[in-house]
Amino acid sequence: MSTQQELINNIKKICICRGITVRTINKAMSEGCLSFEALRRQLGTGTGNCKAKRCREKIEKMVKDYQESLRTGV
Ligand code: FES
Repeated sequence: MSTQQELINNIKKICICRGITVRTINKAMSEGCLSFEALRRQLGTGTGNCKAKRCREKIEKMVKDYQESLRTGV
């Protein structure tokens, strides 16, 4: 991953209500949280005021893409 992309991931918030960044979610996925519910339990994603209306779809896509990368090795 490029340095520029890493910098973006460090500050880009996916779950805006809880202030959870791409980087935090990536780290949790690498530690075994491989579903929206697992991330909710571990990090509290989707537990903010919007009740995951703004973030659920994006987080589920991140999990799907991560699982796909594990399968393909890319
Ligand atoms: S953006 Fe995640 S709970 Fe609102």
